Amino acid sequence: MDQSRREFLTNTAWKGAAAMAAVGAAKCGLGMLPSEQAAYDRYNALTIPRPDGLLDGEPVLQVPAPDSMGVAFAVTALANGFVELADNPQMNGSVRFMAEGMPQAGIDDRVLQVRMTGLKPGTRYWYRAGAAKLEHPVGYWTKPSEIVWSAVHTFVTPGENAPSHFGMMCDTHAHFEQMGKITKKYRELGVPLMVWNGDIPHSLTNKREDFVKHYLVPPHNAGYAADTPIILNRGNHDYRGTAVKRLGEVMMPRLPTERSMRDFALDRNFAFRMGEVALIGLDTGEDKPDHHPANGGLSRFTPFRIAQATWLKDQFKRPEIANAPYVVAFVHIPLIELWPGANPGTLLEDYAVWQKECADLWGPILTENKAQLVLAGHIHRYRYDAATSTRSWAEIVGGGRGDSTFQTLVEGKVENGRLVMRVYNTDAGTIVGEHFFAPRA
Ligand SMILES: [Fe+2]
Ligand SMILES: [Fe+2]
Repeated sequence: MDQSRREFLTNTAWKGAAAMAAVGAAKCGLGMLPSEQAAYDRYNALTIPRPDGLLDGEPVLQVPAPDSMGVAFAVTALANGFVELADNPQMNGSVRFMAEGMPQAGIDDRVLQVRMTGLKPGTRYWYRAGAAKLEHPVGYWTKPSEIVWSAVHTFVTPGENAPSHFGMMCDTHAHFEQMGKITKKYRELGVPLMVWNGDIPHSLTNKREDFVKHYLVPPHNAGYAADTPIILNRGNHDYRGTAVKRLGEVMMPRLPTERSMRDFALDRNFAFRMGEVALIGLDTGEDKPDHHPANGGLSRFTPFRIAQATWLKDQFKRPEIANAPYVVAFVHIPLIELWPGANPGTLLEDYAVWQKECADLWGPILTENKAQLVLAGHIHRYRYDAATSTRSWAEIVGGGRGDSTFQTLVEGKVENGRLVMRVYNTDAGTIVGEHFFAPRA
């Protein structure tokens, strides 16, 4: 980050109040009206008590990229948000980022989002999130409280030099206690980055507060993403309810600089390296065809899937993806027919068991580029399908909550020159599957 930006970010907000007081004194000397002087006096006289309890839960790291990292967190009153970032746990020489917004920083009474930019790939950072409560002692004149800070947390940015290590969870469906077993396990394992592979809500999401509960303050999961960045890859349930278009107010989309104008709508697809592994995120969308009456004529998942195919093809032209020893793609709905005659997502009856349209569009591109693995969810039952002579990639379907099934954590790690995928039964605390992949030729 250049020096001028750092100084701007560090100094702007807090010099403002002092400058206003100084201007007040000067203006007074130049003949301030009594009413104006009274306003300045009221402003300066207001003392805002330290707003303990302003932060609701721990910060949630999200949308990781090699050169940026997002953080969102919940607050209990109208506030502005900050993140301080340093390359050491003592926070020496930290720089400060403000809640997103230009020309005015973001303020909100429930959710604050801050993006750290100008980061180095594969680098460990320490950070803390903070908020200042805002009062309005004189009309619209805004006065911030002192900042209340979270504890100091840490993360590693993705990149070719990052650890070759990642995880996947799926189909948590707002079963927060169950989810707590997964989030505890990946923290025990030291997984540096998690893909949350769809179906986060249980039913409809009809207000923003539902997203706040799912992502920022999930019960039984305190601090689940404070030191482990989360990438959200949506599933069919994530498209249901009247508030779904407000998801970005809680979980940030990717930076526009991560894609071309042509791909502007694809604001959650991702492709980056985590060490030797290229991680690619693809969105299978709803589990019913666009013309299903449930969609009310609003759905455009077919063009969305076609657009992602064009995007996917181009990702393999990027040297860091083209040269990756391992390629792992993430989808919510499986790309392999799970049993003969299983619903392929094109029928009006019932719902998709696999997504044939996506398999036809994306499968050949993955095989052309010798991708080794697709990680899916949706079925709520762990399953492994090996690669074939005509399909380079295997598929692991993660387990979700069900009466006769168990919820999985899928961990990927390069060990001794091969990618090892371990599937944990998070109910029993056992490993139920291990799958090994050689590097791409
Ligand atoms: Fe599900
Ligand atoms: Fe699903």
